[in-house]
Amino acid sequence: MALRVIQFSTGNVGRHSLRQLIERPDFDLVGVHASGPDKVGRDAADLCGLDVPTGVLATDDLGALVALRADCVVYMSQAETRPHDALHELTAFLAAGTNVVATSLVWLIYPPHADAWLTGPLAEACRVGGTTMYVNGVDPGFSGDLLPLAALSLCGRADTVRVQEICDYGSYDDAEFTGASFGFGTTPDIVPMLFLPGVLASIWGGPVRLLADELGVELDQVRERYETWTATEPIECTMMRVETGQVAAVRFAVEGIVNGRPAIVMEHVNRLTPAAAPDWPVAPEGRPGVHRVIVTGDPGVEINTHLGLDGVDHNVAGVVATAAKAVNAISAVCAASPGLVSLRDLPVSQVGHLMR
Ligand SMILES: NC(=O)c1ccc[n+]([C@@H]2O[C@H](COP(=O)([O-])OP(=O)(O)OC[C@H]3O[C@@H](n4cnc5c(N)ncnc54)[C@H](OP(=O)(O)O)[C@@H]3O)[C@@H](O)[C@H]2O)c1
Repeated sequence: MALRVIQFSTGNVGRHSLRQLIERPDFDLVGVHASGPDKVGRDAADLCGLDVPTGVLATDDLGALVALRADCVVYMSQAETRPHDALHELTAFLAAGTNVVATSLVWLIYPPHADAWLTGPLAEACRVGGTTMYVNGVDPGFSGDLLPLAALSLCGRADTVRVQEICDYGSYDDAEFTGASFGFGTTPDIVPMLFLPGVLASIWGGPVRLLADELGVELDQVRERYETWTATEPIECTMMRVETGQVAAVRFAVEGIVNGRPAIVMEHVNRLTPAAAPDWPVAPEGRPGVHRVIVTGDPGVEINTHLGLDGVDHNVAGVVATAAKAVNAISAVCAASPGLVSLRDLPVSQVGHLMR
């Protein structure tokens, strides 16, 4: 029987998951949340670019959506900037018996790493409702759990694990959140949200700890580093216009220290143009982006992931893939034991109903 599902938000990521939910035969879309008056009352199909109306109209009535008692809500509202509102929405669903898959609240990729103010109310709501919540995406998400676990499964001994997102964000239409939080278009003396002490570790420290726990190693420390590169001439791209002297590339990492050395590393190199930061690592074969894992050991293993083939923009492919990571987990999450879960608690294969 099809699972009854709700899509919560139809932004960059959510409009793709909404389309996936409508198109898949194993889901029955019963509700859509929209916060903006431009979206409330519109048919779900209209909100994701499909032609055939679904009869499901977007609403901003949280109580009405919770009362549907759906099997799962696919939560993709921008939550990092309004965590307390998001907690209110998520706990309402969880306590009422509706499971959650989400790309929001990226601190929860590995719940044991997240702060108690976040995990406490959510875990309690899961207990009350007998429900499960799972947060994942591409990065953080796939790149820091499924991808390195696949590489590690091929090793007889692992010395270091380095995960890299190397990506040209120039075509990513998200100046308000990604652009601002990464500090693009500002001067290097201004510390953006992402580089405030502890923020990088709160996000990418989760995957570091998940891998440490899977590998059975103790982390001495989780530490952060970042650097910026400023434009040598003006840059015009979809994300924004960057003037000379403003930040046009960032490089940062969260390092898990094992026996005194950085053994588990999550690293980003993000540019707004291919010409930026010429001395930093680039994606292979002239591609605009890669999600890569490099394991040193016996044998060494490297896996390069390229999102978007056949001319599909890599940043568009990135949000489609992020949506898919959540949607593909719905069945597994609905079948899982109650609580906040990570990939460690779910079957790694979540690909049913993709080929049709
Ligand atoms: N791990 C990964 O790989 C990954 C990748 C991309 C994104 N993400 C995460 O996924 C989430 C969604 O990302 P996105 O790029 O789709 O976000 P977005 O387009 O910026 O925003 C998503 C939706 O959030 C709602 N929203 C925004 N501001 C709001 C406010 N002040 N009050 C109420 N609702 C508000 C809007 O919903 P309505 O449309 O209903 O008005 C908007 O469409 C974020 O939490 C992001 O961090 C994770």
